[in-house]
Amino acid sequence: MRLRVRAPATSANLGPGFDVFGLALREPYDVVEAEHIPDRRVEIEVLEGYRVPTKPEENTGGYVALRMIEGLGLSGGTRLRIWKRIKPGSGLGSSAATAVAAAYAVNKLFDLGLGREELVKYAALGELVSAGVPHLDNVAPAIYGGFVIVCQEPELRIYSIDPPPDLGVVVVLPDVEKGSTKRAREVVPREVPLRSLVHNVARATILVAGMALKNINMVKKGMDDVVVEPARARAGIIPEYEEVKRLGEELDAGIAVSGAGPAVICVIEKDRRNLAAEALERFYASRGYGAQVYVTEPGPGVTEIE
Ligand code: HSE
Repeated sequence: MRLRVRAPATSANLGPGFDVFGLALREPYDVVEAEHIPDRRVEIEVLEGYRVPTKPEENTGGYVALRMIEGLGLSGGTRLRIWKRIKPGSGLGSSAATAVAAAYAVNKLFDLGLGREELVKYAALGELVSAGVPHLDNVAPAIYGGFVIVCQEPELRIYSIDPPPDLGVVVVLPDVEKGSTKRAREVVPREVPLRSLVHNVARATILVAGMALKNINMVKKGMDDVVVEPARARAGIIPEYEEVKRLGEELDAGIAVSGAGPAVICVIEKDRRNLAAEALERFYASRGYGAQVYVTEPGPGVTEIE
């Protein structure tokens, strides 16, 4: 048996929701084809796109598949063929997309009947390989689609909300290497002043209310973090951070660092997306950066395709 799945890029945090908020995007996405093989092992081939490890233990999808095969005592293994279109280390949930595709495919190939929360737990193991910590704010939206809130303690709970239908997204990925997500997590402060906590709670609440009430202006207003993003910007991980935030205000858009960066996500009405994309591209070009720009919108979670 063989199946092909499409796993979306995701944008985690959206400003104040560090390790909690995630949004699935319609573009870009990875494609993974999974085939049943008789031996209890995992083989990986990368057919197109960015280079990622082909050793199963080092590949986020391979690691997840191995853990499922071993942990669930499956009879046989899988060959994964990957079309890697989401750039690793971009802040767009590249490692999560492969991990989610693998978890979803193994579940189907072996007819395991695992539910979405269980798939999130398995896919999260892939994040251990890339970030050293199983944060779930990329894998959860990559499975559920749309906007999700992840609550990990004391037990895993995932809440999903359909974003406003006219909410558009522009993602800009400047041409810089941020280094590992692990390092981007090391610079996050371990303690925060009370006034920063109050600021972030207010913004996070406005953002969630905006999603639920289908009010894009509230979503934009909520995309403001005074804790994690500034710390990463100070560490040199997010180029031109202050200025790109100011550009967001001028455009009447919400701008946040996407995950651990260096990509930024801009939320704006769908009919103003192109304007924002041009302005952002011009901005990065004027600072000497090439940039990849995706004009997109919230999208579905992992799905099987023909
Ligand atoms: N919440 C995670 C972080 C997402 O910001 O480190 C990483 O993609």
